[in-house]
Amino acid sequence: MSAPAPATHDGGAPLPGPATAEWWQSAVIYQVYPRSFADGNGDGVGDLPGLIARLPYIASLGVDGIWMTPFQPSPQVDQGYDVSDYCGVDPLFGTMEDFDRLLELAHSLGLRILLDVVPNHCSSEHPLFQQALAAGPGSRERELFHFVEGRSSGPESPSDLPPNNWQSVFGGQAWSRATPDSDTDTEWYLHLFSAGQPDWNWRNPEVGDYFEDVLRFWFDKGVDGLRIDVAHALFKAEGLPDAPSASPVVDGLRSNPLVSDQEEVHEVYRRWRRLAEQYQPQRLLVGEVNLEPSRAARYTRGDEMHQAFAFAFVRLGWDAVAWAAVGTELEAARTLHGAAPTWALENHDIVRSATRFGGGRLGARRARAALVALLGLPGSAYIYQGQELGLPEVDVPVDSRVDPMWARGGVTRDGARVPLPWAENPSLTHGFSEREAAGPWLPVPEGWGDYAVERQQQDPHSVLHLATQAIALRRRLWDEGVFTADDGGTWRVEEGTLLLCERSPGFLVALAMGAERVKLPAGVVLFSAFPLAEDGWLQPDNAVWIRRD
Ligand code: GLC
Repeated sequence: MSAPAPATHDGGAPLPGPATAEWWQSAVIYQVYPRSFADGNGDGVGDLPGLIARLPYIASLGVDGIWMTPFQPSPQVDQGYDVSDYCGVDPLFGTMEDFDRLLELAHSLGLRILLDVVPNHCSSEHPLFQQALAAGPGSRERELFHFVEGRSSGPESPSDLPPNNWQSVFGGQAWSRATPDSDTDTEWYLHLFSAGQPDWNWRNPEVGDYFEDVLRFWFDKGVDGLRIDVAHALFKAEGLPDAPSASPVVDGLRSNPLVSDQEEVHEVYRRWRRLAEQYQPQRLLVGEVNLEPSRAARYTRGDEMHQAFAFAFVRLGWDAVAWAAVGTELEAARTLHGAAPTWALENHDIVRSATRFGGGRLGARRARAALVALLGLPGSAYIYQGQELGLPEVDVPVDSRVDPMWARGGVTRDGARVPLPWAENPSLTHGFSEREAAGPWLPVPEGWGDYAVERQQQDPHSVLHLATQAIALRRRLWDEGVFTADDGGTWRVEEGTLLLCERSPGFLVALAMGAERVKLPAGVVLFSAFPLAEDGWLQPDNAVWIRRD
């Protein structure tokens, strides 16, 4: 592979990255959920000034950049994934000047900034949706969205039923009446998520043009890339036909092929890639493509996105055979389309790994080992704020839950979104708020201070120390050419429960997923999640990186 020029940033200092690969191929990206990261103004909601103040912490982890979930103006029906102005900053989070300061400081610390773009839907408060509502049935304004005449249960009840049987991902039907009390406006609009999130009609070319302007706006500012929300769902089957059965709620996108993975969507990402490549350095596109590995990989063909999250492990328990099967499938997809997997075990939608892997001390050990394994695998890795602290899922009291998924009858995702503990002392919500504050937007549980950054920074055995060391070693291995962008992974299971990923010739990631100790594979142990207790053996729930040559 030829060495790309070092990435400079619009006249700024070069940002780090290995000389032999594009920076994202080796990257570790830290996901910031701004409302729960750090609260600079004491209103109980995290914000941009809070994030700015804590940027040195993120830089100290050694990560390459940050992906920020939405902070654009929004009624916050879905905590910002209902955007009413794609090119602004919600006053809840600060101002555009704050954002500009954030970008500048991040770059000066060697951190790239990726933003979340939400192209499948906007907020029902978005001016173009409001204009569409006002313009009425049959108008050009309504063609930007999916407004469709309802079906009728009988001659007496015109349009009293939704146009088809699609279910919202958040539960309930995926349609709402445009003007519920009107006799003349009998149209419904489509929303794959909540009623406050109308889906754009991507078959109308004006939508594509609109989003091109949005992308240009942020790219022109110097934003380094975009995470693309629900990237596989923009196009719906022509004619919006009924699904063979009303799909189950949470799996809506995956089990209803009529709203997902339509071939036309790829043209959008080809266009976005061409745009990203017009910038110097080129901007990164990473997709939330919630499909099986072989289908998701088609979104990272050479002229589409650079990355798509490999979520497959997220759906699995602590099971070496299942992980090896998924690893093999991802490797096959990589061989076919060239883009290495983009590993993620956690994000703001998923139950925290410490809880998924068994909870309590067992889950904590496994989450720690899984994080070490993940950072050694070929491909880039995304970690979610708090994963580096080993935070568990919080059982948020029912009265405090705000997730619209919960409100519509699904599970709640609030438990992964609880404000970060910065300080051991419980005052000011463990340092989440920098000033005397209103209560945090989600309550923190008893004992949250045990996970605090401040405490873990002083403890050489903390998850925080371990994660920082693993990231540093990973960087060194890239710099020394032990890890390269061409690395693949050969997956297998030994002794029934030892998961192995042979990375490039001579490097092995091993994760002991059984209840019994297993033979330590031959080679020099470069790193381990826990100290090796016995010569030649690997204890349950430990992970190691081994150099074989
Ligand atoms: C994505 C986001 C999730 C949001 C949904 C709708 O899956 O990660 O938080 O609710 O899209 O925008």
